[in-house]
Amino acid sequence: MLNTQVIDPTPAGLAQAAQVLQQGGLVAMPTETVYGLAGDALNSDALLQIFQAKNRPTFDPLIVHLAVPTGSKSWLDYLESEQQLVDLSDWSESLKVQIEALLKQLWPGPLTLVMPKTAQVPDLATSGLPTVALRVPRHPIAQALIRAAGRPLAAPSANRFGHISPTTSAAVLAELGGKIPLILEGGTCEVGLESTIVQVELNGSLQVLRPGGITLDQLQALTPLPVVYISNQPADAEHLPAPGLLKSHYAPTKPCSLLPGPIAELTRADLKNLALDQKDLLAPIGVLLFSGDPDLQLQRLDQLSPIDVQVLSRTGDLTEAAQTLFAKLRQLDQGPAQLLLIEPCPISTGLGYAISDRLQRATARSRVDLE
Ligand code: TXA
Ligand code: MG
Repeated sequence: MLNTQVIDPTPAGLAQAAQVLQQGGLVAMPTETVYGLAGDALNSDALLQIFQAKNRPTFDPLIVHLAVPTGSKSWLDYLESEQQLVDLSDWSESLKVQIEALLKQLWPGPLTLVMPKTAQVPDLATSGLPTVALRVPRHPIAQALIRAAGRPLAAPSANRFGHISPTTSAAVLAELGGKIPLILEGGTCEVGLESTIVQVELNGSLQVLRPGGITLDQLQALTPLPVVYISNQPADAEHLPAPGLLKSHYAPTKPCSLLPGPIAELTRADLKNLALDQKDLLAPIGVLLFSGDPDLQLQRLDQLSPIDVQVLSRTGDLTEAAQTLFAKLRQLDQGPAQLLLIEPCPISTGLGYAISDRLQRATARSRVDLE
């Protein structure tokens, strides 16, 4: 067991964290999306430690995080010539122009691009795929750490595999305490959901692999390239849109079910359909509401008498709901409830897409656990 330290991002703290990274060790760092567990992306030993600390299968590739370049370089030159991480020899000139224009608008920020990799990128970072996922986070502490370390940092979310992603240093400590030496303090993450992952196809289409902090409408408004998103439905293991996008993910340890509709419209029959038997109904129940006043809404659920109720955003604001989602799920998971009921996100546009995606995956194991 390591003695995990949470340190402030002072110049001395950043220097200490950078040294750990340069020596092949791991540091949890804040980003604008969620906290990441960072290691030297070009050092296979460090990458192996990331997989071990998270108990993550090596078929699930990592995102490589980069510093903002100094000077006004083109993003693609930076990735290709300076960092030598991508090989764009098969890309047409017009594709390069369009991707450059998109990156100028969205980097640094919560967008991850999947592009053809060079031999310099270790296979462990990409799970043997010919592509690498790249992101330039906009969080000042992440930026300062990457610059201080002087190398690209691979960083999956800093949680044990399949669990709820951390949006505070306390959540990282709860997930990985004892397994990593250092956590950089960065307060609460601004976006709260992971980056949007987009694979650039040779034919010039942008394949969205994971909805996230940049919405699909935002993306499409910023580029003439077609933005393609196959489905918001969690895939079966054999039909994953991207490796690692498993059906069950972001999951609380307690059994939890996604309700079929807004809590105010639920009937007793709906609850039966959830296969909540008498024993379940007697268990201490926790409820995650999307919006509204919990006292008013829960009159509808009086037969359940939940002992813990959390609300994502009282006013139904999507940005606030995204930001609080993982923290509220974690609060319910750590609280007294034994069974969690989750209200679906009623809005399917904007960040609502990504929120629904996370709620579906968080509850995908639900009934199996009770059986
Ligand atoms: O916001 C974020 O992206 C956060 C913060 C820490 O930056 N990171 C994050 O990493 O969410 P992680 O490891 O939880 O998600 C990485 C996912 C993989 O599960 C996989 O679906 C996708 O990125 N991915 C990575 N490399 C890929 C590749 N070459 N091709 C397709 N998908 C890839
Ligand atoms: Mg993750």
